[in-house]
Amino acid sequence: MSEQNYSFETKRIHAGYDPQAHNDSVNVPIYQTASFNFRDFDRAQRILRGVEIASVYSRVTNPTVGALEERLRQLDEGAAAIAFASGMAAITSTLLFLAEGGGNILYASSLYGGTQETLANFLTRFGVQTRAVAARHDPAAYEALIDENTRAVYLESVSNPNAELYDIEAIAEAAHRHGVPLVVDNTVATPYLFQPLKHGADIAVYSLTKGLSGHGSLIGGAVVEKGGFHYDEKRFPQFYAKSYKIRDIHANPRSPIDFAPEFPLVIALRMFYLEFLGAALSPFDAYLALQGMSTLVERLDKQVATTQKLVRHLQSRAEVQWVRHPSAQGSPYAALAQRYFPRGAGALFSFGFNGTREQLREFIGALRLFSYHVNLGDVRSLIVNSAETTHGEFPPEVLAQADIPWNLVRVSVGLENADDLIADLDQAFQKAFAG
Ligand SMILES: Cc1ncc(COP(=O)(O)O)c(C=O)c1O
Repeated sequence: MSEQNYSFETKRIHAGYDPQAHNDSVNVPIYQTASFNFRDFDRAQRILRGVEIASVYSRVTNPTVGALEERLRQLDEGAAAIAFASGMAAITSTLLFLAEGGGNILYASSLYGGTQETLANFLTRFGVQTRAVAARHDPAAYEALIDENTRAVYLESVSNPNAELYDIEAIAEAAHRHGVPLVVDNTVATPYLFQPLKHGADIAVYSLTKGLSGHGSLIGGAVVEKGGFHYDEKRFPQFYAKSYKIRDIHANPRSPIDFAPEFPLVIALRMFYLEFLGAALSPFDAYLALQGMSTLVERLDKQVATTQKLVRHLQSRAEVQWVRHPSAQGSPYAALAQRYFPRGAGALFSFGFNGTREQLREFIGALRLFSYHVNLGDVRSLIVNSAETTHGEFPPEVLAQADIPWNLVRVSVGLENADDLIADLDQAFQKAFAG
């Protein structure tokens, strides 16, 4: 599809793929091959020196994965996109590259558990310094911690598990005043509900495992780069480091900035991180992700509407202490939701179970429709007690800072009938509180 000014609804189905270039196959074909033929000696040189763009080896480029990357790029209106084998691979590769050589990363103190643990205790093993920003809603709190080695500010557009929202434009401005890019995990929102790059973020990262693919059938991740961010050479020398690996046609070494001034991050991730860490998305999983994305709009519209019904219902139940979702009555995020999420702030929310630990155990055990596991964004509704599962690796003080009490129940709303879901919750409450 030529890049016209099509709407989101059209692009999520057609962008990044031209059937005529693929034997008129209506679906994006699965290029299930490790490697691609160079054809001849001169073409090999042209491809390896970046003059001719063609797939070489599926660890780095593959046409099925490429169609997905281009579709994601267009949905987020970025300069370039790159897929990874998981959301964590996308996030870790991005942050490791940005922090290369002793940088530090600032992050909101409530994130998906795997990311938070990576920042707090894993990247630090590689000499990356990381700092949790306790006052995570306050742009000034980020700004106060930025120093000459800060390489990124990191947060989630809709946080997991509490569906917190942030004033992303104000936090981006604070970071940009110091020449620091803002990285936003837009997994829970998806580009349909929120486009981070249009609101100040420089880099969007995704788990494709969740709402984007939407069927709980694959593990995948992606990074979309806005382009145009000025990486100052003193703060970000890695963008200017010349390498023979990305040489030009005359075999002169180039830097990521020389190679692709509009999207140096994606080039560096592809040529070094995907190449050498090797966390490549498989063509089959790219195909599944593309298939899932073609119903993104309808899925999210229905899931958001059902979420709002469930939130209202749970707010009326005595077995529920509180409900956290921007659509909940009294939510502190109502104004941010109105400003940034005109289509609704997603299908993930949490509630406080108003009973004992034993009653919570009974409640979860009594649910029939809701599955009990750690994924989210599935067509099936999911429920989980975050403090002991998705965020189970955290000590009490970190859980307290992230606002995750023991009785927090996280819900990811699927595509079932809303009344059936409500009836399932109610019968489980009844069983748990029967005695
Ligand atoms: C918000 C968020 N970001 C990233 C990830 C990691 O993605 P993946 O499981 O695809 O590695 C998750 C996984 O739960 C998540 O919820």
